[in-house]
Amino acid sequence: IHIAIVLGTRPEIIKLSPVIRECERRDLPYTLIHTGQHYSDELDSVFFDQLELPEPDYHLDVGSDSHGAQTGKMLAEIEQALLDVEPDVALVQGDTNSVLAGAIAASKLPVEIGHVEAGLRSFDREMPEETNRVVTDHVADYLFAPTDTSADNLRDEGFDESRIHVTGNTVVDAVHQHRTLATEKSTILDDLDLTPREYALLTAHRAENVDDRARFADLLNGVERISTELGVNIVYPIHPRARNRLDEFGLDVPSCIELIEPQDYLDFLDLEQAATVILTDSGGVQEEACILGVPCVTLRDSTERPETIDVGANRLVGIDPDAIRNGAVEMADVATDWENPFGDGNASKRILTALCQSPADDQQVIQ
Ligand code: UD1
Ligand code: UDP
Repeated sequence: IHIAIVLGTRPEIIKLSPVIRECERRDLPYTLIHTGQHYSDELDSVFFDQLELPEPDYHLDVGSDSHGAQTGKMLAEIEQALLDVEPDVALVQGDTNSVLAGAIAASKLPVEIGHVEAGLRSFDREMPEETNRVVTDHVADYLFAPTDTSADNLRDEGFDESRIHVTGNTVVDAVHQHRTLATEKSTILDDLDLTPREYALLTAHRAENVDDRARFADLLNGVERISTELGVNIVYPIHPRARNRLDEFGLDVPSCIELIEPQDYLDFLDLEQAATVILTDSGGVQEEACILGVPCVTLRDSTERPETIDVGANRLVGIDPDAIRNGAVEMADVATDWENPFGDGNASKRILTALCQSPADDQQVIQ
């Protein structure tokens, strides 16, 4: 079997890194196609270097644009790459425009599609990511659902059981492969003069939060109230989208919030592990907080990661400043002995085993 792995953004590089390593371990032929949706070093090459990933075979350099223009460019270029490579399967991960383009391109070619992190639903069609998930799932042949909850979402939409594989989330594989290294190697806490459990970590980059001046201002205001209430400073590695919006809106950032550059994976994991509470609108960060045993407060109106809330690791508070403060005060005190709902860290093995059992490759030895 020959697998084309399509990726383009920070979370896809991180969450597909265990899958790439597993292809290497099994000596499976694969082709890496990078759309170039993320291109700044701190969102892209820093992860290839630190996670020791191979150079992409194809770099499509699409860059930033409106949804339609960006997805359209990727679609045309991924199609060319797939025609060139003729893989058996194209593998995509998550819910970005790169995922949508990879899935649609493959769907019109004799190439099967595997969707890693299938079946997540926020049930909020206003989010571009929700459209990307729904469309990708519906053209995919292999639906790699991380949990029973995500598999149930697929069943509710009428998917045939034979397409659904509950694998766990590859983010657990990534965290297991790097958390000890992060503790050993990262010096970020010293560099920023931070004491474990005496700061909160913030990430906010979601379009619906940071592209709306009033929502972004409310979010910052709520975070400032947490600082006052809990007596902690806030560290905010800021995504370029959010940084651009802050500048454009001329918003003042409260002095209790320290803006820093986006971090590499080991430094970010270390910042997560030692935080007293994590405040985020990121999907991957909600999962990692839950896996690492750090309470999380999600600054959104909906989440496609309800498992984190069900186990008591996360609270959904929206962006109302009082709700943000109250949520953080409650979460800072919770017992952190919840079960990790995202699997045992062998998701990438299960994904490759399922792909190797495909009719395209009956001869493949199953490991
Ligand atoms: C994208 C995903 C989002 C995901 C996030 C991960 C879509 C629709 N959105 O959002 O689901 O959570 O990636 O981080 O696919 N920019 C840079 N450097 C870069 C990339 C972007 O400066 O390397 C800036 C540009 O100003 C760009 C803006 O960030 O216009 C937004 O980038 P884009 O890729 O459109 O969306 P993200 O917000 O990164
Ligand atoms: N991340 C990182 N450095 C940072 C912020 C996030 O390495 O400064 C990692 C984080 O550990 C997680 C992933 O990026 O694995 C989440 O990506 P992001 O929040 O950009 O996207 P989302 O998960 O919301 O799609």
